[in-house]
Amino acid sequence: MKHLIVANWKMSPNDPKRARDIFDIVKGAVAKLRSVQIIIAPPSIFLQSLASKYKGNKISLCAQNISSSEDIANTGSLSAVQVANSGGRYVMIGHSEVGDTLDNLRVKTFLTVKHGMIPIIFIGESERDKLGKYLKNIKLQINTALKELQTKEVENVIFCYEPIWAIGQDDPMDSYDIHATVLYIRKVLIEVYGDKIGQNINILYGGSVNSNNIKDILSIDDVNGVVTGRVSTDTEEFVELLKIANRT
Ligand code: 13P
Repeated sequence: MKHLIVANWKMSPNDPKRARDIFDIVKGAVAKLRSVQIIIAPPSIFLQSLASKYKGNKISLCAQNISSSEDIANTGSLSAVQVANSGGRYVMIGHSEVGDTLDNLRVKTFLTVKHGMIPIIFIGESERDKLGKYLKNIKLQINTALKELQTKEVENVIFCYEPIWAIGQDDPMDSYDIHATVLYIRKVLIEVYGDKIGQNINILYGGSVNSNNIKDILSIDDVNGVVTGRVSTDTEEFVELLKIANRT
């Protein structure tokens, strides 16, 4: 299985020329790598131009967010169909920096699948309590996001476990805790959708991933890849991370 690496560019870089340069450097690097699959989520203003010039199959383009509405009376928003028609193949749903409600997870996941794209659904807690109440909330996030999908549509969905408190730190979450939580997520999926689907859904980890910790994270059983944030547009660091991921 290839490791999935989702590069969330967040609100960077500042200009289209730099966006193209970063994309071209990543494109050059992945051409030689056999064991990684890259999904790049640039700011939406760059998505169409990056997608239109790329003819390969190693990199896919992803939107960082879509509107929860299909009504045109949504000034400043971006619809699922616009992303699909501009070369987007994936959509990030519910990243904590977007501020989605639980119900938005459900609607945005539905719209993404409706327009033939794959949702990458972000789940995770803002803090951990000793009684494990956060697990209940993770379960609710999963079940709400998938509520409108047919069982066969669930097979392609990707989850990213990204605890909010682990974003923007020096170090990621402890590997043991990542493993325990990802196992829990898989158990919830298996409970509802059965072994075959539950075992095959890709579950990623996000939160302070870099070239120093990527090997440890990808070595955790049941983790199928990562979502990177800050390092995604630091080309030297990101290419190093890709090379290590490819060897892991
Ligand atoms: P950092 O890797 O910068 O912590 O960001 C994580 C993130 O938000 C990815 O979606």
